Order: sequence, then structure tokens, then C-alpha cells
Amino acid sequence: MRNPLKILAVPGSVRASSFNRGLLVAARNIGQSEIEIEIYEGLGELPIFSQDLEGENMPARASELDRALRNADAVLIATPEYTGSIPGGLKNLLDWAARPFGNGAFQGKPTAIIGASPGQYGAARSVEMTTNIVGALGANVLERNLTVGRAMDRFDSDGTLSDETVKRSLEDVLTGLSDLARRPVTA
Ligand SMILES: Cc1cc2nc3c(=O)[nH]c(=O)nc-3n(C[C@H](O)[C@H](O)[C@H](O)COP(=O)(O)O)c2cc1C
Repeated sequence: MRNPLKILAVPGSVRASSFNRGLLVAARNIGQSEIEIEIYEGLGELPIFSQDLEGENMPARASELDRALRNADAVLIATPEYTGSIPGGLKNLLDWAARPFGNGAFQGKPTAIIGASPGQYGAARSVEMTTNIVGALGANVLERNLTVGRAMDRFDSDGTLSDETVKRSLEDVLTGLSDLARRPVTA
């Protein structure tokens, strides 16, 4: 048995009944073998990024984020879509993760992006933009993503993912991310 793959799951929403957080909880509950999923809970406490807060002025929350990302074997981001774009809080997190320039925590990091929204396109624009941003940060981005439209029909009233098709797609994303992370690095 191999060591479990440590996946840091990052929700792009701090809403109590967030569908996106619900997707990450569902991913954790799938209980795929050889995978350990930890949900990052610090998004709402991250200060707004400023270059004045770098180096020795770095806030504890930003250092914690950096450590959590670097300790993870892979990252799974679940993003909502706000006004056709990536939510500000998640962009702020990615701005922190971009530093230091050229050596941020996403450099070479196997990363998958998923998203959910009540609309029919399931946060597709935000998923695409987030994919581009982490790609710019040097992440090793999984080609397969997942966009969950009409999210209110896919979750129970207690916020549990109930849609079997979405569950299977989520499992496929986890398998893809795991394969990507375990693939030997070729020069
Ligand atoms: C300010 C704001 C802008 C939004 N813009 C979009 C949008 O452009 N596209 C979309 O599909 N949903 C949009 N929504 C709806 C969100 O997708 C919905 O609130 C979703 O549940 C948020 O994700 P969460 O459940 O993970 O918190 C918007 C919601 C808010 C509050």
C-alpha cells in the first residue's frame, strides 16, 4: 500500500451552505483509497493581499496558507462564479499563492478545478478563469474539470451531494488528479 496522496481542497466560497464546499465534502466522503482530503478553512480570514505584507510582515494566515499548499501533494479548487468571473476571495488567495514570484506554492502542483452554480452552465467561466490563473502560477493542471449546473437540484436540503452522475464525475476528477500527482516527472 502506498502512502495516501494528500489533497488540499480549497472552496472559493465562505457561504455557510455553499454548494462548492458541498462538492469538496462529497469528494472527501467518497473515501477513495490512497487519498486523504483536507478542506482549507481559512479563506475568510486571509487579509487582502498587499506587497507591503510580504517577507517579514507576512500575516500568520498567509503563512499558514503557504504551508498548507506546499505540504499538499495536490490541490482541488471548487469555485463559484460571481459576475461572470472568479470570486474576489479566491482571487485574493491565489494572489498570496503567487508569491514569491516564480516560486509560489502552485509551482508544479498537480491541481484540479471544479465549480458549481445554480445557473445552467455551472460556473464554467469561473472554472476556466481559475484554470488560467493557476496555470500562470505554474501548476500542473488536470485537463479534466467538472462544472455542476442547477446545483440546487443536485444537493439534499442538508447540503449533501445527492446526484449520482455528479458523484461519478467527481470520482473521475479525483482519479485523474491522483494519476497526475503520482505520474513520474519526466525531464
Ligand atoms: C454577487 C454575485 C454574483 C453572481 N454571479 C453569478 C454568475 O455570474 N454566474 C453564475 O452562474 N452564478 C452567479 N451567482 C450565483 C452563485 O453562483 C450562487 O450564489 C452560488 O450558490 C455561489 O456559490 P456557493 O453556493 O458555493 O456559495 C452570483 C452570486 C452572487 C452573490
